[in-house]
Amino acid sequence: MPAMLTDVARIIAGASRGAVLTGAGISAESGVPTFRGKEGLWGKFRPEELATMDAFLSNPKIVWEWYNWRRELMAGVEPNPGHYALRDLAGYFDRFTIITQNVDNLHRLAGSEDVLELHGNIYRNKCADCNRQHDMDADVDPETIPSCAFCGGKIRPDVVWFGEMLPAEAIDRAFAEAEQSEVFLSVGTSALVHPAASLPVAAKRRGATLVEINPDETPLTSLADYYFPACAGGVLPDLVAAVRNAAGTP
Ligand code: OAD
Repeated sequence: MPAMLTDVARIIAGASRGAVLTGAGISAESGVPTFRGKEGLWGKFRPEELATMDAFLSNPKIVWEWYNWRRELMAGVEPNPGHYALRDLAGYFDRFTIITQNVDNLHRLAGSEDVLELHGNIYRNKCADCNRQHDMDADVDPETIPSCAFCGGKIRPDVVWFGEMLPAEAIDRAFAEAEQSEVFLSVGTSALVHPAASLPVAAKRRGATLVEINPDETPLTSLADYYFPACAGGVLPDLVAAVRNAAGTP
């Protein structure tokens, strides 16, 4: 087993609190496209036309068509070994929080329980005016967008758009978990979008061991104590096996 993996496993086996920040890269092996990079969504589409409140106000039909397309894309998708490994890794800590920028629901589908969704969830809808969540999780017909039963506002996907605040409760807890973690993993994120990208930095500043898993280097790489230049679906199951060894559990 590679020395770096054994070292990280030993640190995890001796820790009681941990957290992980995940990004689109962890779902790439499930077939969900990432945002940046060669095949990334933001190379083909303009975020300001699809993922902002201004876009929704000026052309809600196009915005809904884009989200319905992404929902369809994700419909047949399943968690991959990386998601399952994070679920299993949680069992080696007293407390382990998954902080995700992903809206694809795959951590929950893999069976993880403590999941903070910083950028919302593509399967939920809410009112664009009063923010109340709506049960209508089925696709919305872009030609006849339903209105909020409470205030009459237009229904939109419950995701965070550019220029919007993150859900306060989720981001506050994410910082608290990061700052109290002894081990913090950054997995499959370009670490470019804030405030999420500040979480690993906050954890490291408070003394956490910082571990990064990403085939490409990011602004975080030079700060990481351990950097695995590889895919999450390969490294994470190996890490869980190494932690199992280090913890002496069968
Ligand atoms: P990005 O698309 O910016 O970055 C994905 C990262 O995953 C890249 O650094 C890849 O190198 C890495 N990667 C690709 N395949 C991988 C694999 N198999 N295993 C591990 N890593 C892999 O996605 P995010 O960092 O999640 O926000 O993007 C952050 C936010 O920007 C998103 O939540 C979205 C986007 O605009 C909003 O929509 C608000």
